[in-house]
Amino acid sequence: MSEPATYSYPRYLEAKRTVDARALNRRVWSRFVDELAARESSPVRVLEVGGGVGATVERIVEALASRSVDNLDYTFVDLESENVEAARTGLRTWAEGRGYSVSDGTPQVWTDGPITVTVRFAAADLFDVAASHEGPPHDALVAQAVLDLLHIPDALGALAPLLAPGGLWYLPIHFDGVTAFEPRVNPDLDARVERLFHESMADPSLEGERAGAHCGRRLLRHLHDSDAPFLEAGSSDWVVVPQDGAYPGDEAYFLHHILHFIETELTGHPELGAEAFADWVATRRQQVETGELIYIAHQLDVLARSP
Ligand SMILES: C[S@@+](CC[C@H](N)C(=O)[O-])C[C@H]1O[C@@H](n2cnc3c(N)ncnc32)[C@H](O)[C@@H]1O
Repeated sequence: MSEPATYSYPRYLEAKRTVDARALNRRVWSRFVDELAARESSPVRVLEVGGGVGATVERIVEALASRSVDNLDYTFVDLESENVEAARTGLRTWAEGRGYSVSDGTPQVWTDGPITVTVRFAAADLFDVAASHEGPPHDALVAQAVLDLLHIPDALGALAPLLAPGGLWYLPIHFDGVTAFEPRVNPDLDARVERLFHESMADPSLEGERAGAHCGRRLLRHLHDSDAPFLEAGSSDWVVVPQDGAYPGDEAYFLHHILHFIETELTGHPELGAEAFADWVATRRQQVETGELIYIAHQLDVLARSP
């Protein structure tokens, strides 16, 4: 696939579904599902923040439907209304494809399937949701690939009151400071691009407060030092490898979008020669087209329990 004419964030989130599905740590996930299914509440209440286009909703519904849970109340929050609309439409199609009857309007209620699901969508900032929350607390709080963008103690501190005693924090796919592309183009330049890309993830306006490139380990440390009993952690690395010269699903687009993030962040950087960097990006794009590029990003999944 050659470089796309335009980039779309919802398409990037759709394209990363298959990458995430391979990456998610099975041990952390199984423990999360076991613990969630063992909660004695009906409905089981889940709050997901930064939900993107809804991939985690599908995963959780599918897992609970095969357990003894018969009623799930799912609050889905994302800052971007285009993501929320993509999730609302996509989840309807997904649920109907599995035989559920899906109501019109808000909330979206799925019936006639193995589990009754009520999905409450909100295009909102998670901090506003936390500040204005009324109603029963949640059995689980889920944030996948979100905390990199935030100040971890602030985000978890704001959300903690929304979690029931003994409720679960499921926090997968948090970037942890390693990016690797193969084959090498130029070892010095490869290393510099990686370092500068990671540095660009800290938001200077927040004086380094954003978790950024070391989010995974910061998250582990934060939960370890808090009073939330720690249940499981493990790696969930993205590994994108061509098979017979082609990438599965829409993963060629996913790779182009990753290169687009890097190009957007680093073009004009004083530590990079403009021509050398443009050549580096062009070479990496060529490697996607010819099905040669291998991409690895190290990430961590964390599961903890509210005290
Ligand atoms: C990297 S995406 C991950 C999306 C999804 N969880 C996934 O893994 O596919 C991060 C998401 O967090 C959302 N987000 C960022 N800051 C947020 C905030 N303060 N409140 C709610 N959502 C936020 C973004 O709009 C984006 O959809």
